[in-house]
Amino acid sequence: MDKFVVEGGTRLEGPVAISGSKNAALPIMVATLLAPGETRIRRVPDLRDVVTLSRLLELLGATVRREEGDLVIDTSNLTSTEAPYDLVKTMRASIYVLGPLLARAEKARVSLPGGCAWGPRPVDLHLKGMAALGAHLEIHEGYIEAEAPDGLTGADILLDLPSVGATANIMMAASEARGVTWIRNAAREPEIPALAAALNAMGALVRGAGTSDIRIEGAVGLGAAAVDNIPDRIEAGTFLVGAAMTGGDVTARGCEPAHLTALCAKLTETGAQVTTGPDWIRVRGAARPRALKVTTDFYPGFPTDLQAQMMALASVADGTSVLTEEIYSDRFTHVPELVRLGARIELDQNVAVVEGRSGLDGAHVMATDLRASAALILAGMVARGETHISRVYHIDRGYEGIEQKLADLGAVVRRETEPLVT
Ligand code: EPU
Repeated sequence: MDKFVVEGGTRLEGPVAISGSKNAALPIMVATLLAPGETRIRRVPDLRDVVTLSRLLELLGATVRREEGDLVIDTSNLTSTEAPYDLVKTMRASIYVLGPLLARAEKARVSLPGGCAWGPRPVDLHLKGMAALGAHLEIHEGYIEAEAPDGLTGADILLDLPSVGATANIMMAASEARGVTWIRNAAREPEIPALAAALNAMGALVRGAGTSDIRIEGAVGLGAAAVDNIPDRIEAGTFLVGAAMTGGDVTARGCEPAHLTALCAKLTETGAQVTTGPDWIRVRGAARPRALKVTTDFYPGFPTDLQAQMMALASVADGTSVLTEEIYSDRFTHVPELVRLGARIELDQNVAVVEGRSGLDGAHVMATDLRASAALILAGMVARGETHISRVYHIDRGYEGIEQKLADLGAVVRRETEPLVT
């Protein structure tokens, strides 16, 4: 298993090219199940989650090949409708295949994703959505067994909360349902209009994506297309938080500033200078960031996927910060690890009170999930001495070329292989 060794006392400085979005690429890849033929998706990051999903699509009968930054997927000949536990357990986004398989093959058998380190993370809204479209669903031996022998029928669906995954899954299924579907209280995250644009390029009729009411007019037989991915707002945000907390100066290039408004406002509150252009954001950090209050929320609120990184910043800010997690009440696995580095954090349910220190102390810590890993790398940069972060396989799920990008920005991070202790 690999670990990262981060040398403290460095600052991030320079330009960094932002990769294509992981969380937009995954549903767009799955949407190809609706469109027989060869679809080209441009700007797909080379990440472990993309490889895992490619393997799942191949199991279903698709062919997937990488051509430089593009992914080319051919779903002409589907041979299976089953998403097995072994793959789903490593990547929850596998649940996305449920809607498209139901729409195209009229049946699907998809393993339940199971628990997660930060709470139950249910998929009930995905299931309710499919049932509203006329599918029959049963849970058998850990699998969702769904069928729609007479096809799916459009419906008016009100989501209990604006789930990104449920919105995407319903949007894909409804694209080939009979009649019109409305998704009310839909997620507005940028990954949703990105998926809608891809579906529309394939011949779907999706309107209103990016607002709370999405209208999908079912179309018969989508077809392959060439589609674009959007930039990764969380990757960009992670480097920009790094600039703000190391007194650095980073320009994230090839990003979409409108997707990061909440982050830019918060970084400005820390005393950083934030400037933007059409496709770039530059953050010049203060000598020491000021403490701040952050509450995560659905888009366009502050993203939960940047909460851990902000907690790393708060650990070295001047004053007491309060971070409230409203999306996943237990998403705090990074807290004990930051505390090992000397951070002063009191956790009370979903509220973390962080008393900033002028610096942290290097230590051995463990990455527990993707964004927690990113937070620990940032924290290691402001710690005295070396920070050893084990289980960095999490970071490979979601940050393309992270070591090279950090090195280009002046960080000293090396990957080492840890011997297995049995
Ligand atoms: N929820 C339900 N029932 C459902 C679905 C969701 O109660 O059927 C709840 C969740 O438990 C959570 C809230 O709804 O409290 C929002 O979850 P959502 O469905 O929006 O999340 P997701 O689609 O499972 C995506 C990203 C996550 C990101 C969240 C929130 C992908 C592959 N994943 O997950 O990204 O945190 O939206 O923005 O797009 C990451 O990249 O590190 C990551 C975890």
